[in-house]
Amino acid sequence: MCSIIGYSGNEIAAPIIVKGLKRMEYRGYDSVGVATESQNQIELKKGTGKVTEVNSKFQLDTLPGKIGIGHTRWATHGKVTDLNAHPHPSNSGKIAIVHNGIIENFEELKKKLEDDGYSFKSETDSEIIANLLQKNYESTKNVKDTIMKTVSEIKGHYAFVAMFENGQLAAARFHEPLIIGVGQENIFLSSDVLGFIEYTDDAIYMKSGNFIILKNREFQILDFNGKEIKHEITKVSKEFGDAYKGDYAHFTLKEIYEQPELISKAGDRTINGLEEAVEYIKNAKNIYVTGSGTSYNSALIAKQILSKYVKIKSEPIIASELQFAPETIEENSVLIAISQSGESADVLEAVRIAKKSNCKIISIVNLLTSSLTRKGDVVLGMNCGPEIGVAATKSFTAQLIVLYKIVQKLNGNITINFEEFSESISKILENPVKIQEIAKELKEVSDVYILGRGINYPIAIESALKLKELTYIHAEGIPGGELKHGPLALMDTDVFVIVINPNDSTYTDTLTSAREIKARGAKIIGVSDIESDIYDYWIKIPKINEILYPISEIIPIQLLTYYSALEKDTDPDYPRNLAKSVTVK
Ligand code: AGP
Ligand code: GLU
Repeated sequence: MCSIIGYSGNEIAAPIIVKGLKRMEYRGYDSVGVATESQNQIELKKGTGKVTEVNSKFQLDTLPGKIGIGHTRWATHGKVTDLNAHPHPSNSGKIAIVHNGIIENFEELKKKLEDDGYSFKSETDSEIIANLLQKNYESTKNVKDTIMKTVSEIKGHYAFVAMFENGQLAAARFHEPLIIGVGQENIFLSSDVLGFIEYTDDAIYMKSGNFIILKNREFQILDFNGKEIKHEITKVSKEFGDAYKGDYAHFTLKEIYEQPELISKAGDRTINGLEEAVEYIKNAKNIYVTGSGTSYNSALIAKQILSKYVKIKSEPIIASELQFAPETIEENSVLIAISQSGESADVLEAVRIAKKSNCKIISIVNLLTSSLTRKGDVVLGMNCGPEIGVAATKSFTAQLIVLYKIVQKLNGNITINFEEFSESISKILENPVKIQEIAKELKEVSDVYILGRGINYPIAIESALKLKELTYIHAEGIPGGELKHGPLALMDTDVFVIVINPNDSTYTDTLTSAREIKARGAKIIGVSDIESDIYDYWIKIPKINEILYPISEIIPIQLLTYYSALEKDTDPDYPRNLAKSVTVK
């Protein structure tokens, strides 16, 4: 949910930690803090806001010492306040921790610690880790036993880094990510490779249920029973280092503009594991497709294209809902799990449930080092490079491309000219003036409805999600035919409606819906390859192979929501209250 980082090396820690936090900020960004150790003293600074803001206010990067920890928070327990920001010191001030995740039994542990005389300054669940470590360190007198005792007492999902006043660091991982960056002169403990990629591309992916103790550059990895674990160093793909905005004002804009290249490369791209995945699909009793947010919207499109082009039935399932109806999953079926990050807790839980029913898991993932990758029987890479903007843009397109490739493998008659398609998308992006003008109109609007039928309905929902995230405007995707069953009551002169209306079998019916809306005075933005005087604003999309309409519709809408965010003065890369990878349930 958030990012944690620990550093031990030959250089002054604080500026390196601040830089790492800045790069990982997409993970959580409501508060920031750093603590360092110097001459057996722990010093700490923290506050609410983005990394740059908090750093200029408190000069986090001036803390002394060559050992330190840092955190960007995405609050789960306790409001966004300076006191709730991490790191949290223990009562003695001799230990400080940063934590990602949730401690489920924190109330019970807090009570016990309070009975022992410990006091708490924050409302977070995390602060109990600091005091529990202190209590256990005072009794065991060594870091290894302290961590083992502490992890045996806490329940939940967590990764934490603890810093002791003697300069020793320790970190434990339980169902939240933690990666060790192994440099020549320094060691990093980080939620994401972006925390250290500038310094080293040698990484150790720690397993859940393991911990590390580190002094200077010497470290030991152990399991929660204290057994030493052999580790493997993996070379991290250098492309992660590309996570810079370059000339773009925001990551989101850069990622929207990366899509034509992603599409043009799709034609020649061989996806490892595709044949195996297709064999699983052919032999499956049932097929389920799951994901959260945007990735679930891809699952809705998967259902449409599998049934239309290869006559295979599948059932899309919202990942977070499966735990309430696990009986939905029949034995010996296939679950296609879609996730950009591969770390969404809801998706991992859905996978766990499906595995219990002997299902084969096909994962469609961008981050190939993620938990979901390790859980898939076959893993299909989205291959779209790091996506930093919290709102999914290019990863949605990349997911659809993988799904199209599956369909093509199952039906050899489906040809897609990705090269030509890429050119037509570039044309839309080259001239955003009209879209920028429409964005100005949306500035004052408080409700936007988006209509689509058939394969275009998931795009209506995805567009609504983009509008909510980027502009905070209330937005709702509606299946066109449902308008007359209720939502028509909402149409008046204050409302804007985006009508997704390509030249496919849904065209005439959707145009009729647009007429009905127009008659009630609402403004219509038509997204179509055919112009119509019903539209107050027309976003022209290319005339293209039907299967590609979803991508050609969503890209201009992504751009529209991006420019609307600028008009509304919201931060398109970091929408309030959200985080890029949602590793809590
Ligand atoms: C999309 O714009 C959102 N930020 C969000 O809905 C996201 O798609 C969802 O959290 C799933 O993430 P994942 O693909 O990494 O699993
Ligand atoms: N549960 C902790 C808190 O609310 C950690 C949240 C996080 O992962 O950022 O402070």
